[in-house]
Amino acid sequence: LAPKTLVGKKLLITAGPTFEPIDPVRGITNHSSGKMGFAIARAAAEAGAEVTLIAGPVHLPTPRGVQRINVQSAQQMHDAVLPMAVHQHAFIATAAVADWRPAQTHEHKLKKAEGGATAPTIAMAENPDILATVARLPKPPYCVGFAAESEKLAEHADAKRRRKGIPLIVANLGPATFGRDDNALLLIDEQGQRELPRADKLSLARELIAELSKRL
Ligand code: C5P
Repeated sequence: LAPKTLVGKKLLITAGPTFEPIDPVRGITNHSSGKMGFAIARAAAEAGAEVTLIAGPVHLPTPRGVQRINVQSAQQMHDAVLPMAVHQHAFIATAAVADWRPAQTHEHKLKKAEGGATAPTIAMAENPDILATVARLPKPPYCVGFAAESEKLAEHADAKRRRKGIPLIVANLGPATFGRDDNALLLIDEQGQRELPRADKLSLARELIAELSKRL
Protein backbone atom coordinates (compact mmCIF):
# COMPACT_ATOMS: atom_id res chain seq x y z
CA LEU A 1 0.00 0.00 0.00
CA ALA A 2 1.31 3.46 -0.92
CA PRO A 3 2.31 5.71 2.01
CA LYS A 4 -0.29 8.47 2.38
CA THR A 5 2.20 11.31 2.13
CA LEU A 6 -0.07 13.77 0.31
CA VAL A 7 -3.28 13.72 2.35
CA GLY A 8 -4.85 17.19 2.34
CA LYS A 9 -2.74 18.32 -0.64
CA LYS A 10 -4.18 19.49 -3.95
CA LEU A 11 -2.22 18.69 -7.11
CA LEU A 12 -2.82 19.92 -10.63
CA ILE A 13 -1.19 17.98 -13.47
CA THR A 14 -1.10 18.55 -17.23
CA ALA A 15 -0.47 15.59 -19.53
CA GLY A 16 -0.40 14.53 -23.15
CA PRO A 17 0.01 16.50 -26.37
CA THR A 18 -2.02 19.47 -27.49
CA PHE A 19 -3.89 19.65 -30.79
CA GLU A 20 -3.80 22.96 -32.63
CA PRO A 21 -6.57 23.14 -35.25
CA ILE A 22 -5.95 24.32 -38.83
CA ASP A 23 -9.51 23.74 -40.02
CA PRO A 24 -12.39 21.47 -38.86
CA VAL A 25 -10.57 18.30 -39.94
CA ARG A 26 -6.85 19.07 -39.64
CA GLY A 27 -4.43 20.16 -36.98
CA ILE A 28 -0.90 20.12 -35.59
CA THR A 29 0.00 17.80 -32.74
CA ASN A 30 2.93 15.73 -31.40
CA HIS A 31 3.80 12.20 -30.25
CA SER A 32 3.37 12.68 -26.49
CA SER A 33 1.55 9.61 -25.14
CA GLY A 34 0.51 11.17 -21.82
CA LYS A 35 1.72 8.01 -19.98
CA MET A 36 4.14 9.79 -17.62
CA GLY A 37 1.58 12.41 -16.58
CA PHE A 38 -1.16 9.83 -16.07
CA ALA A 39 1.23 7.68 -13.99
CA ILE A 40 2.05 10.72 -11.83
CA ALA A 41 -1.67 11.46 -11.39
CA ARG A 42 -2.23 7.86 -10.29
CA ALA A 43 0.73 7.90 -7.88
CA ALA A 44 -0.42 11.22 -6.37
CA ALA A 45 -3.96 9.90 -5.84
CA GLU A 46 -2.54 6.74 -4.24
CA ALA A 47 -0.61 9.00 -1.85
CA GLY A 48 -3.89 10.61 -0.81
CA ALA A 49 -3.74 13.86 -2.80
CA GLU A 50 -6.74 15.53 -4.38
CA VAL A 51 -5.71 15.34 -8.03
CA THR A 52 -6.94 17.23 -11.09
CA LEU A 53 -5.56 16.06 -14.42
CA ILE A 54 -5.83 18.37 -17.42
CA ALA A 55 -5.37 16.04 -20.38
CA GLY A 56 -4.75 16.74 -24.03
CA PRO A 57 -6.09 14.28 -26.61
CA VAL A 58 -4.94 10.80 -25.46
CA HIS A 59 -6.66 7.43 -25.21
CA LEU A 60 -5.76 6.55 -21.63
CA PRO A 61 -8.09 5.53 -18.80
CA THR A 62 -8.54 8.06 -15.98
CA PRO A 63 -6.69 6.86 -12.86
CA ARG A 64 -8.93 5.98 -9.91
CA GLY A 65 -9.93 8.95 -7.77
CA VAL A 66 -8.57 11.51 -10.23
CA GLN A 67 -10.69 14.36 -11.59
CA ARG A 68 -9.99 14.69 -15.32
CA ILE A 69 -10.62 17.61 -17.64
CA ASN A 70 -10.09 17.00 -21.36
CA VAL A 71 -8.79 19.77 -23.59
CA GLN A 72 -7.46 20.02 -27.13
CA SER A 73 -5.38 23.14 -27.69
CA ALA A 74 -2.66 24.86 -25.65
CA GLN A 75 -4.96 27.85 -25.18
CA GLN A 76 -7.70 25.58 -23.80
CA MET A 77 -5.16 23.90 -21.50
CA HIS A 78 -4.00 27.32 -20.30
CA ASP A 79 -7.60 28.45 -19.72
CA ALA A 80 -8.38 25.28 -17.74
CA VAL A 81 -5.21 25.49 -15.63
CA LEU A 82 -5.08 29.18 -14.69
CA PRO A 83 -8.27 29.57 -12.62
CA MET A 84 -7.42 26.39 -10.66
CA ALA A 85 -3.71 27.00 -10.18
CA VAL A 86 -4.02 29.43 -7.27
CA HIS A 87 -5.87 26.83 -5.18
CA GLN A 88 -3.20 24.12 -5.56
CA HIS A 89 -0.29 23.01 -3.42
CA ALA A 90 1.62 21.77 -6.46
CA PHE A 91 1.48 22.05 -10.24
CA ILE A 92 3.19 19.37 -12.33
CA ALA A 93 3.48 20.21 -16.03
CA THR A 94 4.14 17.04 -18.00
CA ALA A 95 2.16 18.05 -21.09
CA ALA A 96 3.97 18.47 -24.40
CA VAL A 97 2.39 21.82 -25.17
CA ALA A 98 2.72 23.07 -28.75
CA ASP A 99 4.92 26.16 -28.87
CA TRP A 100 2.95 27.56 -31.80
CA ARG A 101 -0.56 27.32 -33.22
CA PRO A 102 -1.97 28.26 -36.61
CA ALA A 103 -2.67 31.98 -36.27
CA GLN A 104 -6.08 31.42 -37.79
CA THR A 105 -8.41 28.40 -37.62
CA HIS A 106 -10.39 28.13 -40.84
CA GLU A 107 -14.12 27.69 -40.33
CA HIS A 108 -14.40 25.34 -43.32
CA LYS A 109 -12.12 22.62 -44.62
CA LEU A 110 -9.34 24.02 -46.79
CA LYS A 111 -9.99 22.80 -50.32
CA LYS A 112 -7.44 21.73 -52.86
CA ALA A 113 -8.28 23.97 -55.79
CA GLU A 114 -8.64 22.40 -59.26
CA GLY A 115 -5.62 22.89 -61.45
CA GLY A 116 -2.29 24.07 -60.22
CA ALA A 117 -3.17 26.29 -57.24
CA THR A 118 -0.24 26.72 -54.86
CA ALA A 119 -0.13 24.99 -51.47
CA PRO A 120 -1.41 27.11 -48.60
CA THR A 121 0.97 28.81 -46.18
CA ILE A 122 0.04 28.46 -42.52
CA ALA A 123 0.99 31.51 -40.45
CA MET A 124 1.80 30.58 -36.85
CA ALA A 125 1.24 32.42 -33.56
CA GLU A 126 2.99 31.75 -30.24
CA ASN A 127 1.15 29.83 -27.52
CA PRO A 128 1.22 30.90 -23.87
CA ASP A 129 3.81 29.13 -21.68
CA ILE A 130 1.46 27.60 -19.12
CA LEU A 131 4.13 26.56 -16.62
CA ALA A 132 5.96 29.91 -16.68
CA THR A 133 2.64 31.73 -16.28
CA VAL A 134 1.69 29.66 -13.22
CA ALA A 135 5.19 30.04 -11.74
CA ARG A 136 4.84 33.84 -11.95
CA LEU A 137 1.57 34.02 -10.03
CA PRO A 138 1.86 36.09 -6.83
CA LYS A 139 1.42 32.95 -4.70
CA PRO A 140 2.34 30.08 -7.01
CA PRO A 141 1.88 26.42 -6.15
CA TYR A 142 5.11 24.36 -5.97
CA CYS A 143 5.89 24.05 -9.70
CA VAL A 144 7.49 21.04 -11.37
CA GLY A 145 8.52 21.15 -15.02
CA PHE A 146 9.68 18.46 -17.43
CA ALA A 147 12.46 18.79 -19.96
CA ALA A 148 13.44 16.68 -22.94
CA GLU A 149 16.83 17.78 -24.21
CA SER A 150 18.91 16.24 -26.98
CA GLU A 151 22.30 17.29 -25.55
CA LYS A 152 23.92 18.73 -22.39
CA LEU A 153 20.88 17.48 -20.52
CA ALA A 154 21.54 18.66 -16.97
CA GLU A 155 22.91 22.02 -18.03
CA HIS A 156 20.05 22.83 -20.41
CA ALA A 157 17.41 21.50 -18.02
CA ASP A 158 18.73 23.60 -15.14
CA ALA A 159 18.84 26.67 -17.37
CA LYS A 160 15.21 25.98 -18.25
CA ARG A 161 14.35 25.63 -14.55
CA ARG A 162 15.79 29.06 -13.82
CA ARG A 163 14.28 30.68 -16.91
CA LYS A 164 10.81 29.45 -16.02
CA GLY A 165 11.25 30.41 -12.38
CA ILE A 166 10.41 26.95 -11.00
CA PRO A 167 11.97 25.10 -8.03
CA LEU A 168 12.17 21.62 -9.61
CA ILE A 169 12.70 20.31 -13.13
CA VAL A 170 12.63 16.69 -14.22
CA ALA A 171 14.79 15.82 -17.22
CA ASN A 172 14.07 12.80 -19.37
CA LEU A 173 17.28 10.77 -19.59
CA GLY A 174 16.68 9.56 -23.18
CA PRO A 175 16.51 7.69 -25.45
CA ALA A 176 13.25 9.19 -26.71
CA THR A 177 10.58 8.26 -24.19
CA PHE A 178 7.47 9.04 -26.25
CA GLY A 179 5.05 6.15 -26.00
CA ARG A 180 7.40 3.89 -24.05
CA ASP A 181 6.35 2.30 -20.78
CA ASP A 182 9.70 2.98 -19.13
CA ASN A 183 11.86 6.03 -18.63
CA ALA A 184 14.81 7.31 -16.59
CA LEU A 185 14.71 10.70 -14.91
CA LEU A 186 17.06 13.31 -13.54
CA LEU A 187 15.61 15.58 -10.83
CA ILE A 188 17.26 19.00 -10.61
CA ASP A 189 16.55 21.63 -7.97
CA GLU A 190 18.49 24.35 -6.15
CA GLN A 191 20.14 21.72 -3.90
CA GLY A 192 21.46 19.55 -6.70
CA GLN A 193 20.60 16.50 -8.77
CA ARG A 194 19.18 13.05 -8.17
CA GLU A 195 18.88 10.34 -10.78
CA LEU A 196 15.94 7.96 -10.83
CA PRO A 197 17.30 4.98 -12.83
CA ARG A 198 15.40 3.38 -15.68
CA ALA A 199 12.15 1.81 -14.53
CA ASP A 200 8.51 1.59 -15.57
CA LYS A 201 6.73 4.95 -15.55
CA LEU A 202 4.47 4.08 -12.57
CA SER A 203 7.48 3.22 -10.36
CA LEU A 204 9.18 6.45 -11.40
CA ALA A 205 5.98 8.39 -10.75
CA ARG A 206 5.82 6.96 -7.21
CA GLU A 207 9.44 7.96 -6.56
CA LEU A 208 8.79 11.44 -7.92
CA ILE A 209 5.72 11.79 -5.68
CA ALA A 210 7.85 10.72 -2.68
CA GLU A 211 10.36 13.45 -3.58
CA LEU A 212 7.58 16.00 -4.02
CA SER A 213 6.05 15.04 -0.66
CA LYS A 214 9.29 16.02 1.08
CA ARG A 215 9.10 19.46 -0.54
CA LEU A 216 5.45 20.33 0.25
O1 C5P B 1 10.18 25.14 -22.85
P1 C5P B 1 9.84 23.70 -22.90
O2 C5P B 1 8.63 23.41 -23.75
O3 C5P B 1 10.96 22.78 -23.23
O4 C5P B 1 9.46 23.37 -21.37
C1 C5P B 1 8.90 22.17 -21.01
C2 C5P B 1 8.08 22.34 -19.76
O5 C5P B 1 7.23 23.48 -19.84
C3 C5P B 1 7.15 21.17 -19.54
O6 C5P B 1 6.97 21.04 -18.14
C4 C5P B 1 5.87 21.64 -20.23
O7 C5P B 1 4.73 20.99 -19.73
C5 C5P B 1 5.86 23.11 -19.92
N1 C5P B 1 5.24 23.97 -20.95
C6 C5P B 1 4.03 24.62 -20.69
N2 C5P B 1 3.49 25.45 -21.65
C7 C5P B 1 4.12 25.63 -22.84
C8 C5P B 1 5.33 24.97 -23.11
C9 C5P B 1 5.86 24.14 -22.14
O8 C5P B 1 3.46 24.45 -19.61
N3 C5P B 1 3.56 26.43 -23.75
